[in-house]
Amino acid sequence: MSIRAVKGTRDILPPASAVWNEIEETSRRVFRTFNVHEIRTPIFEETALFARGVGEETDIVSKEMYSFDDRDGTSLTLRPENTASVIRAYIEHRMDQIPGVKKLFYIGPMFRRERPQKGRYRQFSQIGAEVIGSESPTVDAEVIELVDSLLTANGVKGARLLVNSVGDPESRARYIARLQADLEAHLPALSPDSQRRAVTNPLRVLDSKDPQDQPIVEKLPSIHEYLNDACREHFAAVCRYLDDRGIAYEVTPRLVRGLDYYTHTTFEFLHGALGAQNAICGGGRYNGLAESLGSRVPAPGIGFSIGEDRLVMAVEEARGGLAPLALPLFIAPMTEAAFRKGALIARALRAQGIAVEVNAPAKMKRLMELANKANARHTLLIGDEELATGRLGLKNMETGAQAAVDEADLAAIINR
Ligand code: HAM
Repeated sequence: MSIRAVKGTRDILPPASAVWNEIEETSRRVFRTFNVHEIRTPIFEETALFARGVGEETDIVSKEMYSFDDRDGTSLTLRPENTASVIRAYIEHRMDQIPGVKKLFYIGPMFRRERPQKGRYRQFSQIGAEVIGSESPTVDAEVIELVDSLLTANGVKGARLLVNSVGDPESRARYIARLQADLEAHLPALSPDSQRRAVTNPLRVLDSKDPQDQPIVEKLPSIHEYLNDACREHFAAVCRYLDDRGIAYEVTPRLVRGLDYYTHTTFEFLHGALGAQNAICGGGRYNGLAESLGSRVPAPGIGFSIGEDRLVMAVEEARGGLAPLALPLFIAPMTEAAFRKGALIARALRAQGIAVEVNAPAKMKRLMELANKANARHTLLIGDEELATGRLGLKNMETGAQAAVDEADLAAIINR
């Protein structure tokens, strides 16, 4: 049997890969406008980084990581997310010593051993950013605005923004104690997963999707009742700054998210085109993360990750499907001598940044068929006559019009 791609992984072929490239280019441009610069961290890290950063009791760490022992016995893990890695790098390179807020973005693959389904893969890609070095709610609003701008620039409309505050450790501890007490009273009625989480990670029960849990979850108190004044003021400021920008949001007290490092603001963008896996982006603030990774200097930050696979789905949906790849020029030589001339013309045009395909010599009819299949906008026919006169036959494939042109004018005509 032939070997196939591993379950939950996939190949991205043309023309789909062109959409990925376009999205990445657009995103890089948007990051630049927010003065956010790229960081590239390794694809694998010490397992302890994610265990401590993301949290031992999270689904990601407890059951979804691809971990293996290196030959020296160190446990390594393919990164399931990149926030912990970015903070690790921030600490390691003493980026706290650089003045100002550090704004870093990344684009790349993450690995989680989840059950594959539409929009959920075991290798997936994220476009994300982390803004580190400030606790100010002004930064929270800017980060959310950045996601909004990325979605808009990529042509995605109609995403819903959910925001919440999960408070600081003090208010959250009081809330968790209350949750634990309430959940304990209903333990037998909960789903097996929630029974376990009620003990290990009670916040996670809040986003249980199990219908059995819903009547109980609905009656649980809201975290907003437990936020202290500082947390409440921080959240109110974020909402105010979003209002200023005209960015619509829904306050969602049950939005707790699946990673343990969050403090204060958490948010998600949902998109209707994605089906069950409808979160196109998740993010939030993580003021204590650096310290939990052993840093003596605090590195309060906030960030997000857009699921690029899901962004591609939303973009394709907005465009009504995949457009075939366009080719500006197809060179169609009818003889060996014409081919040699054509190759030189192609070389000169490519140096000017024009995409050109040169075919091997063939009969005119065959060449026109190939030019059509290549979705060429122009076809340059070269035969012995064209070589003799120096006037080349350029066919506009959209209008069907054919004209004799000089080689010197080709680039200008094709770029028109
Ligand atoms: P997350 O919510 O785990 O957050 O993932 C963010 C996004 O990645 C999700 O909303 C989804 O679009 C995409 N995603 C996650 N898992 C998969 C999967 N198996 N297949 C396809 N797409 C997936 C984080 O990763 C945090 N690091 C976000 C963050 C950055 N918080 C602060 N800074």
